[in-house]
Amino acid sequence: MHDAPSSSSLALPDNDQSTMPHHIAFIMDGNGRWAQQRGLPRIAGHKAGVESLRKTIAHALKLQLKYLTLFSFSSENWSRPAAEVDAIMGLLRRFVKSDLAELNAKNVRIRIIGSRQNLPLDVANYLMEAENTTQANTGLTLVVAFNYGSRDEISRAAQRLAEKVAAGQLKPQDINESAVSAELDTAGLPDPDMLIRTSGEHRLSNFLLWQNAYTEFIFIDVFWPDFCEEDFDKALQIFAKRHRRFGNICATKSVV
Ligand code: IPE
Ligand code: IPE
Ligand code: MG
Repeated sequence: MHDAPSSSSLALPDNDQSTMPHHIAFIMDGNGRWAQQRGLPRIAGHKAGVESLRKTIAHALKLQLKYLTLFSFSSENWSRPAAEVDAIMGLLRRFVKSDLAELNAKNVRIRIIGSRQNLPLDVANYLMEAENTTQANTGLTLVVAFNYGSRDEISRAAQRLAEKVAAGQLKPQDINESAVSAELDTAGLPDPDMLIRTSGEHRLSNFLLWQNAYTEFIFIDVFWPDFCEEDFDKALQIFAKRHRRFGNICATKSVV
């Protein structure tokens, strides 16, 4: 039996569900600086970041959000000191061990995006276990971007398309936007409506470059471990006031 979120728990500040995004993506940034400000090692910031991640998932469930994407480790983050990378791998292992059963009970479906290459074998297995265990769930889709980089994703997609052309399964003229989308790690997922980046940095850092074509960006000046429900609600209020045009001349409602 799965927990059904109670309708009374809907928490959009103005109770207007028509402006609730379907898909929110997060760049969870600022763990290291949060720790350094406190005289702690950067790894302590990543640990605190996991708590913030749990609270964010809980809030997304309360809001009955359909898709939540979390940027957890980028393909460029391998350039960090080995001890920090090892600690992040350890946190991922621990998170799956401690939280997978509860997420599954809450009807959460986990999708992993990013390359499976170069990951420690047990980490790749934990990611696969998370996807397999939750694949039949119908509640929140939690997309975890791990070992993810958008340019890497697009290059891998281009390779697969080229292989199909070489094998005679696809004509070059049939490579259109939907054919490209279908080869991306995010195949079948809607594009994010809103992207929130914490830590005060105003950049994408190679995150969902294709999928964020018409996403609304919100940059928040708090480090990820300090990101709380109030910040989440404030971002939703800002989103509700945005006018999305998708290239047209008149504003469309914020959710399509
Ligand atoms: C985000 O926090 C977490 C990961 C990239 C894994 P950072 O570790 O980038 O923290 P800052 O940006 O250096 O403060
Ligand atoms: C993006 O943050 C990656 C994650 C949050 C996982 P970074 O901290 O790696 O980005 P840059 O280096 O500041 O652009
Ligand atoms: Mg950072």
